[in-house]
Amino acid sequence: MDINKDDAVMRRIRAYAERISEGKANDYYFYNQPIEEIRGGAKVIVHGREMGMYASYSYLGLIGHPRINAAARQAVDKYGTATNGVRTLAGTLPLHDELEETIAHFKHAEAAITYSSGYVTNLSVISTLMGRGDYVLSDKLNHASIVDGCLMSGAEFRRFKHNDMDDLEHRLQQIPQDVSRLVIADAVFSMDGDVIDLPNMVRVCRKYGAYLMMDEAHSVGILGKKGTGIEEHFGLDNVVDIKMGTLSKTIPSVGGYVAGNKELINYLRHASRAYIFSAALPPAQTAAANEAFKVILDEPWRIEKLNQNTKVFIGGLKSAGFDTLLTTTAIVPVLCGSDEQAYVMTREAQHHDVFVLPVVSPAVPEGLARLRATITAAHEPAEIKRAMDVIATAGKQIGII
Ligand SMILES: Cc1ncc(COP(=O)(O)O)c(C=O)c1O
Repeated sequence: MDINKDDAVMRRIRAYAERISEGKANDYYFYNQPIEEIRGGAKVIVHGREMGMYASYSYLGLIGHPRINAAARQAVDKYGTATNGVRTLAGTLPLHDELEETIAHFKHAEAAITYSSGYVTNLSVISTLMGRGDYVLSDKLNHASIVDGCLMSGAEFRRFKHNDMDDLEHRLQQIPQDVSRLVIADAVFSMDGDVIDLPNMVRVCRKYGAYLMMDEAHSVGILGKKGTGIEEHFGLDNVVDIKMGTLSKTIPSVGGYVAGNKELINYLRHASRAYIFSAALPPAQTAAANEAFKVILDEPWRIEKLNQNTKVFIGGLKSAGFDTLLTTTAIVPVLCGSDEQAYVMTREAQHHDVFVLPVVSPAVPEGLARLRATITAAHEPAEIKRAMDVIATAGKQIGII
C-alpha cells in the first residue's frame, strides 16, 4: 500500500497509527499483552510478573479444570485436532451432536445448534431469521455482534433506550401491524454488568407479537442458582424464543450456540450460512465445552462463591467512592472519566500487579471511560482486598475518588 497517499483509507490508517504511538509513548498501550502463564484461575504471568487477574471472562474459574482438560485430551487422541470439513459435509462428529444435546438440556430447550464463535452466531442467526421488511429492535448497549447482525440482516433497525421497557413498547407501537419483529438484548450487559428486565420485556414482546432473543454470553454460569442463566434468575421457564450464548467465557472453549424449539434449530441448520460455509468446531474445543456445562451443574459451589466475591468486590469499590453504575454481576465497571484517566488507572494498577484493562470511547460514550474489572469464583478474599486497595490508591492519586 502507498502510505503517502492522501485518501480516506490512508487517513483512517494514519489516525489509528497516531493514536497507537501516542499510547505507547505514554505507556498507555494495553492491546494484546501476552498472558505468559495462567496460574490457577486468578493469577497470571504478564511481562514476567505474577499479577492478580481481574479481566477474565472465566467467571467460574473453569480454565484448566481437570475434567475439562481430560475431555479435550481424549478428543484429540481419538479424532486429532480438526474435522474433515464443514458440519454439513464431513465435519460432524458424535461430539458435536452430544454438545448440542447438552446445551439444549442445560437451557431447557428442545434443540441447539453451534457455530464457530459467539460473534458469528449473532451475525448468522439474526441475518438468517430477519430480512428486508422485517423490524429488529435492539437495546442501545447491546454487543457489537448483535448490532452487526441486525445491520447485515437488511431489516429495519431500531435501538431502544437501555433497559427501558416503556421505550421498547413505544417503538413497537410505531411499527406496522403486519410485519415480523424481533427484540434482542444482552442478558447481562458486557460493559456495564447490569441485568436486563426480562419479565417486563417478555410482557411487552407478547403484547406486540415480537420474537425475543437473549444473548447470554455473560449470564450463563453467573445468573441463577444453578447458573443456567437469565430465565432461571427470574424464575421463568422458556419465555425466550432464541437463547443465544457463547462457549468462550464461563465455558472455557470457543464457539457460540443458539437453543430453541426444534423447528427454529432445524431451519438454522439448513439455512444459516455460517453453519453451512464455515468449518466445524474442532474436537478438543467441542469436548471441552460439553464437559464444562456438566461441571457447572455438578459444582454449584462455584456459583455461590462467585456471588460472594461479586458482593465483596462491588461493595468494596463503592464504599471506596467509585461509581460502578448499576452492576450486580461479575462485570464491574469502575468509572474513570476521560479516556486518559482510564489509561492511567490501568497503568497504575498493572504496575502494582493487578491486571485490569480499560474500556474507552468509542466502545463507551466519551466521559464514561472505565476499568472493566471482572471477578471470578477463583479469587480468594485476601486477593480481592489487595486488588481493591490498589485500585483505590490509584483512584485517589488521579483524583477520581
Ligand atoms: C454479549 C456478547 N455477545 C457476543 C460476544 C461474542 O462472543 P465470542 O467472543 O465468543 O465471539 C461477546 C464477546 O465478548 C459478548 O460480550
